[in-house]
Amino acid sequence: MKPIISINSLYKTYKSGFKALENISLDINKGEIFALLGPNGAGKTTLISIITGITIPTSGLVKVNNFDVIKNPINTKSVIGLVPQEVAIEPFETVLSSVKFSRGLFGKPQNSDYLKKILKQLSLWDKRNTKIIELSGGMKRRVLIAKALSHEPLVLFLDEPTAGVDVELRKDMWGIIRSLKENGVTIILTTHYIEEAEDLADRVGFINNGKISLIENKKQLIEKMGKKTLSIHINNSIKNIPNNLKKYKLEISNNGATLIYNYNINHDKTGITRLLNDLSNENIILKDIKTNQSSLEDIFVDIVGK
Ligand SMILES: Nc1ncnc2c1ncn2[C@@H]1O[C@H](COP(=O)(O)OP(=O)(O)OP(=O)(O)O)[C@@H](O)[C@H]1O
Ligand SMILES: [Mg+2]
Repeated sequence: MKPIISINSLYKTYKSGFKALENISLDINKGEIFALLGPNGAGKTTLISIITGITIPTSGLVKVNNFDVIKNPINTKSVIGLVPQEVAIEPFETVLSSVKFSRGLFGKPQNSDYLKKILKQLSLWDKRNTKIIELSGGMKRRVLIAKALSHEPLVLFLDEPTAGVDVELRKDMWGIIRSLKENGVTIILTTHYIEEAEDLADRVGFINNGKISLIENKKQLIEKMGKKTLSIHINNSIKNIPNNLKKYKLEISNNGATLIYNYNINHDKTGITRLLNDLSNENIILKDIKTNQSSLEDIFVDIVGK
């Protein structure tokens, strides 16, 4: 896939001397949903602000659709839509005029069919003549998305799209994001909700203290998450693994009182039934068994912890 955004050796040090981003290099592929995961203050909004041309980087190169964001801001901004983290919109405007205004800012000729399409997609069409101040918080967020889409961008940035919204609206948002992807929009979202990344993203990037520590395909992460361990506590501890059990690659722990078996829940056969059978054939008496799974959350905590 061709990258639509490419970021090379990006650094941002704020005037205060604070290093918000250090040596970020990242490509975003056309048509993908990329989730940027990280704790408060990690640098997510800073990174988005640089790509969208709101903040100037200290050094490094960012290209959007092959244009440099600093040298060609008009070309890059015209293909980008941003749904900011903070909700700030004109309270006394109506939904439709606010979205029309956003489109106008980009110098695009008005296109009422297109605006009708996005307002319908966001379930805002019936509210098009309602003043923004009269909308619920969730509807306001939808208006922000409509405004960000008003000029038909190729790339949409969503900075914490579901922070502080209820479960139902979160699911709605996920549906909206998925259908935007189906329409060919590339999506970059930031979140600290791991399940959001798990549900939506094609790729996940972990950012912490201004550095990206891991970028991975979600499927591969799920492979990792599928890894489980079975801890088998036995009555009489053993020193060596009997020959008949060697094929299971068991680890001995707890001074021989526990055997640990690693398996993958995503595989057709986990091997657990055969293992338990073979243990019994070896006259190994089980005291207790326990399973453990590494989740995306464990991976996240592990990375952030480091
Ligand atoms: N204008 C600024 N001047 C100085 N420091 C700033 C400025 N903007 C952000 N920072 C600092 O940069 C760091 C990264 O902030 P940023 O807003 O990018 O984090 P974030 O990952 O978006 O966090 P959150 O999850 O809370 O939104 C923080 O420590 C923040 O205090
Ligand atoms: Mg932020």
